[in-house]
Amino acid sequence: WSNEKSTIPELKKAQELAATTLESIPVVETYKFKLIEQLITITGCDVDTLYGSFIKTKAKTHGDIAISLYQLKAGNPAELAKKIVDQFKLNEYVTKVTAAGAFANFTFNHLPLYYGTIKQAIRLGKKYGTNTLGLGKFGIVEYSSPNIAKVFHVGHLRSTIIGSFLHKILDANGWSTLSINYLGDWGKQFGILAIGFQKHGSEELLKKDAIKHLFDVYVKINQDMDEDPTIDDQAKAYFKRMENGDKDALVLWQRFRDLSIAGYEKTYNRLNIKFDLYSGESQYSLSQMRVVLDELNSKGLLKPDNGALVIDLKEHGHGTAVIGKTDGSMLYLSRDIAAADYRHKTYDFEKLFYVVASQQDHHFKQLFKILELMGKTWTDKCTHISFGMIKSKNGTLSTRKGNVVFLADILDQVQEEMHNVMKKNEAKYAQIEDPERVSDIIGMSAVKIQDMAARRIKDYDFDIDRMTSFEGDTGPYLQYAHARLSSIQRKRDDISVTLENLDDIKLDLLTEPSALAVIELVQEYPNVIRELGQTYEPCNLVTYALRLSHAVSSAYNDLWVVGQPEDLAYARLALYGAARTALGNALTLLGLEPLERM
Ligand code: ARG
Repeated sequence: WSNEKSTIPELKKAQELAATTLESIPVVETYKFKLIEQLITITGCDVDTLYGSFIKTKAKTHGDIAISLYQLKAGNPAELAKKIVDQFKLNEYVTKVTAAGAFANFTFNHLPLYYGTIKQAIRLGKKYGTNTLGLGKFGIVEYSSPNIAKVFHVGHLRSTIIGSFLHKILDANGWSTLSINYLGDWGKQFGILAIGFQKHGSEELLKKDAIKHLFDVYVKINQDMDEDPTIDDQAKAYFKRMENGDKDALVLWQRFRDLSIAGYEKTYNRLNIKFDLYSGESQYSLSQMRVVLDELNSKGLLKPDNGALVIDLKEHGHGTAVIGKTDGSMLYLSRDIAAADYRHKTYDFEKLFYVVASQQDHHFKQLFKILELMGKTWTDKCTHISFGMIKSKNGTLSTRKGNVVFLADILDQVQEEMHNVMKKNEAKYAQIEDPERVSDIIGMSAVKIQDMAARRIKDYDFDIDRMTSFEGDTGPYLQYAHARLSSIQRKRDDISVTLENLDDIKLDLLTEPSALAVIELVQEYPNVIRELGQTYEPCNLVTYALRLSHAVSSAYNDLWVVGQPEDLAYARLALYGAARTALGNALTLLGLEPLERM
């Protein structure tokens, strides 16, 4: 279609943009534009109004797309419907127009649409489904954000999985993005930890596994504190020195922080996750806090209350927010106010997402309300992406034996399970180059898909048996579906679909209902990605990937490639290739590394 320039200036521009950036405009969108070309004259409406009035038809039998004539506000809908039916000239794109009350329904010429979709998926490959809607927009995704010296709990695991997904979705929708890990790396507990390290610390263990060692030290010193109340004072004094910028006091803290980040990074790398920036509560110093306090004060928001400084948010239904203590120490909430303000000044974002568990709903309501009361006009660009709990013992991840473990331990356990399953099929196992790595990828797919399979806000059970099953709505099942698609090409390696021969392939040999069902899903993919840019619900993409996998699995029964005449084999390889592109891209967005063999 890009060869054929539209007569409408806006569309011409869109086409040129598409041609220069090579982004995919879904083939079905070009059909919409074909409708618009005529509807402009028939209805007298402009492109945007018409484009915004398209809706899905109730059922495929009603046609492929409808236009809501109420929405056009261009006169009596029923009369308009009749006018459209009378005047619309059917063409190679549109084969039928019907009036249905306040709607006009259109049926497309399916086959070219389908074949266009296959070609587009194959041509665009990893770019298939992406778009440029977010061009020029900048979004920040803050996620994971564990607390140094404390366990990486289930809330952090979910934040990591969902946050990374959100980051990828924004990228796929053309945004520029920045991912921030906002560490819990400040506060009196670092005074406690320092005192604890002086008593129980070991340089050797710190270097070996900082996360685990600092956790152990923190547990020990907390036990000591029950018996020796002076430790608390020592810790307070130590942290005061840190807050005052005492270099000696900060040396130890800096090492704890650096080594912990290095430890986290190992696990993040394994999960295929990378942060653009490690920030944290420590980045907002007392002097920056004073600026915040002054600002709050000048707006008349602060008031003293029992040795604390508070903001009364009761009339807004958010209780009382504690901003600081009169001893001068600042709190989590105040640091978040400073951080938001800093981010706005530094990055001028279009959106700032906080991916944090629903336990902090109240915290974020307070934060956003305070920013608004301070007169920050950009507050509505801040969004809390909330999610439910993983129901497991004490809110911490635990093994079958029930002990508290770290994220890496859970990943090890799932990896081992998957490895054992793989070993059972000796013939297949022998063909896999790096079974350790492959089983790790399947294991992590299991954890991630379980996490994203339902709406974010729902709680779920951390069920290792269920998530590692190869049947049902699981990560291993999706990986298997992708690996099977990859194997089709391997089994017919005398021919292959390439960009050069793509236009010669006789796609019109694909007529079976099971083939068309697969193509329809491939065609849906770009719109799934667009919608995710509004809903931020990973389960919608999981559902899509499962539907596509099921459709492909039904197609295998009737649509063979092996042993078929060349023309037909080519056409089917193209079909499966397009399906593999869509499924592979969906898995990648979900944070899974699509496997070729397993
Ligand atoms: N470190 C915090 C916790 O573990 C999460 C930080 C969330 N982000 C924020 N800007 N408050 O509870």
